[in-house]
Parts: sequence; structure tokens; C-alpha cells
Amino acid sequence: MTEWRVRDYSQDDLEAVIRVDAESSTAEEPPLFPLSDAVAALQALHPAVVATADEGVVGAAVSRVEGDRAWILRICMAPAWRQRGLGSDLITALEHRLFASGVRAVHAVLPKGETGAAALYNCGFGARSGMVVFEKRGPVTPQEIGMLSSLGAELPHGGLWQKVAGMHREKQLIERRLVLPLAHPELAAQHGVELPRAVMLFGPPGTGKSTFAHAIAGRLGWPFLELFPARLAAEYGLASGLSRRFDEIAQLDHVLVFIDEVEEVAGERSGADATAVGVVNELLKAIVRFRTQDGRLLVCATNNVTTLDPAFLRHGRFDYVLPLGPPDHSARTALWKSYLTRAGARADSAALSSASEGFTPADIAHVARTVSQAQFERTFDTGTQALATTDDYLATIRDTQPTVSGAMAQEFADQTEKFARI
Ligand SMILES: Nc1ncnc2c1ncn2[C@@H]1O[C@H](COP(=O)(O)OP(=O)(O)O)[C@@H](O)[C@H]1O
Ligand SMILES: [Mg+2]
Repeated sequence: MTEWRVRDYSQDDLEAVIRVDAESSTAEEPPLFPLSDAVAALQALHPAVVATADEGVVGAAVSRVEGDRAWILRICMAPAWRQRGLGSDLITALEHRLFASGVRAVHAVLPKGETGAAALYNCGFGARSGMVVFEKRGPVTPQEIGMLSSLGAELPHGGLWQKVAGMHREKQLIERRLVLPLAHPELAAQHGVELPRAVMLFGPPGTGKSTFAHAIAGRLGWPFLELFPARLAAEYGLASGLSRRFDEIAQLDHVLVFIDEVEEVAGERSGADATAVGVVNELLKAIVRFRTQDGRLLVCATNNVTTLDPAFLRHGRFDYVLPLGPPDHSARTALWKSYLTRAGARADSAALSSASEGFTPADIAHVARTVSQAQFERTFDTGTQALATTDDYLATIRDTQPTVSGAMAQEFADQTEKFARI
């Protein structure tokens, strides 16, 4: 005669089951299925049983049915009731309900040494060895999804990073300084590396500043949120709009915040009116606050670093000031190669690279698109597959004005010398 009774779970038991679960665990490792999963299964009336004694609920087993298999999400027992056969009674009752309803296989995943493991063995469950539980956590909680969409944030695709072609040096720098510490914060802390919180990218238009900002977010699996100062200004006035938006951002777990053409908000203060000073101050304050939280990175971009308010670039605000210049010969070659591969064209990438000095990735993308489009139309018109040649590319390159002139390249080199903090 046992001192407990096992019966079906009823909605009134929820609180008691949660209480027993809280004191049940004997393992260090958290369970595979969080309590919220077990509660959701109980509320959706998946099969579950409880054991009651004089003092009320002393144990429970909770399952979730998926097609013809079921997962035991929880086996929990009050400590005083362990090792008396209660666990086996719970499982026997639960599996009976599951098998009777057409379930073909019942699985349970428990941390080593967790309450309920012995009961599973006693009930004839076999332990499969040589398996590893792989797990990857999504970057946002369901509660955050609504907030992200109301802020206009997006979840960028992880593949964006691979799509950044050519710029190997810059890519490696960004990966090492930003992505790796943020993706491995414990390892960074072991080495005394402080996590980067804010970075300024500067360089001529079309060199990939926006592209990199998106790609970093994709690489980290963090939501990407671009702030549009003009919109904030129209809605709330720029200074209070910024402070408001950063307050909202502070509630997110993980986020990459991007401000493009930041010189428009953080331009030189000298001679500026009082409102402009207020805006720069507000942004500086917001950055200081932003820096106190984990799981976030501010990326600012500018075409003209010389017009930024000097207070902005002082140490303690931006961890890095990274130049993104026009690609050099080898980076251009790599960019050409990636476009040639995509177009299935057999052209001489080194020759194209030599002919496209001063071209930004955006210029190269433009030429590649123009040639591909022309070939596509030619194939369409002639009915035979047209493949672009080196000459086709060279002709289009000649027709294209490079974004970065010699003078601009020199200017960028000077700015790099003066402002870069790598
Ligand atoms: N490294 C790159 N590989 C492939 N395409 C690139 C690369 N950098 C830029 N592009 C393309 O060039 C265009 C302009 O890039 P963008 O990031 O907007 O430049 P920026 O923000 O510096 O002005 C975009 O269409 C982008 O897809
Ligand atoms: Mg841009």
C-alpha cells in the first residue's frame, strides 16, 4: 500500500506542480525543456499526471505529444518523496496514457543525475549513448519581437557576412576586433579584453560601410536597428527623439544600432546654434549610457570624418575608428572574381582590377550588373548563350566614372593617418 495516489493532471494543480518542480532538481545542468515549455504543455492539456499525498501534490510527470511521439518534459518530485518508487509510478501512469492514445515512442532528455533518471531505467526506458544535444539559441525572445518590429528593427540573414566580397583586410579586422569578442564574451573576459560597444566607420561612399554594419549584425545573429535622425527630428525633435529611442533600445537584450551619415547629427559644434549643441550633447550622453549595457554595439558611419565634432571621437566613446577605403588591387581582384563566378564569365580578373583603380565595391557591383544585364539580353535576343569577355567588362569600366578620384584617395589616406584608431 503506497502513501500516494497517481491521477490525471487537472488545471487546478498548476501552481502545485510548479512548486514541486522548483525543489525537485538534483542536477547542476538546467533541463533541456524550460519550465515555460512544461507549463505550456499543461495548459494545452497534453497528457500529464500528478501524485498526491496528504499534503497535496508531491510529484508530477508532464509530456508533450508531437505526432506519434511524445517527450517527457518533466519528472519532478518533492525531496522527501524520492527513492520510494514514486517516480516509477508517475512514469508508468503517463506512458500508459501516451501509448493508449497512439504514441509510438516516448523520449526523455535529462541532465546527468537528474531526479527521475532512475525511475526511467526502472520503467524499461533504454538510455541511448553516443548522442550529443546540439542547441542554438535564437537572438530574440517572443516578447522582443513585437518591440523590434515597432522600432523598425530587422533580423539580418547570417549569410550576409559571406557575401561581403573582396575586402579581406577590413573583414578580418572587423571580425577580430568586433565580432569575435562579442560572440565569445567569456573568452574575451578571460584575456581582459573589454567588449567593444561603439565603432565609427569612415570612408568614401560605396566602400561598404552600410554593408558591413548589416553583415556584423548577421554574423552575431543580433537584430539590426537603423536610426534615422531626420525621422526622429520630425517626430519628437532631434535631441529628445534620440534620448527616447535610446531608452527604448536599452530594453532590448541584443541589438546592433546603426547611424548612417552620422555627421548630420554629430557635426562640428563650433559656430553652430544652441539646438545643434543640444543634439551633440544628447548623442554623447546616449552613447555613454549605451556603453554600460552588454549585448549591443553601436555602429556609426560617415563619409567625412573631418566634419565630426571632436568630442565625438575622443577616447571612451568609440572603441575603434575604422577606415573603409577604396579596395586595393588585390581586394578589387577578389571582388571581380566573385562577380565573374556569379556571372559564369571567364574574364581576366587581374586585368579588370588594374583597369578599375579608384572603383569602390559599389562601382564594381554596378559594372558587373551592367555587363550581366547586357549578356542576359543578348542571350535572349540571339537564342544562344552569350558569355561576357574581358573586353566587355573593360568597355563598361571605361564608361564608368570611379567614385574615388585621385584627390579623394589622397584625402582619405590623410584622414586615415589622422583619425584611424584600429
Ligand atoms: N565588399 C562588398 N562586396 C560586395 N558588394 C559590396 C561590398 N561593399 C559594398 N558592396 C555593394 O556596394 C553598394 C554600396 O555599398 P554600401 O555598403 O552602401 O556603401 P557605403 O555605406 O560605404 O556607402 C551596395 O549595393 C553593396 O551591396
Ligand atoms: Mg551607406
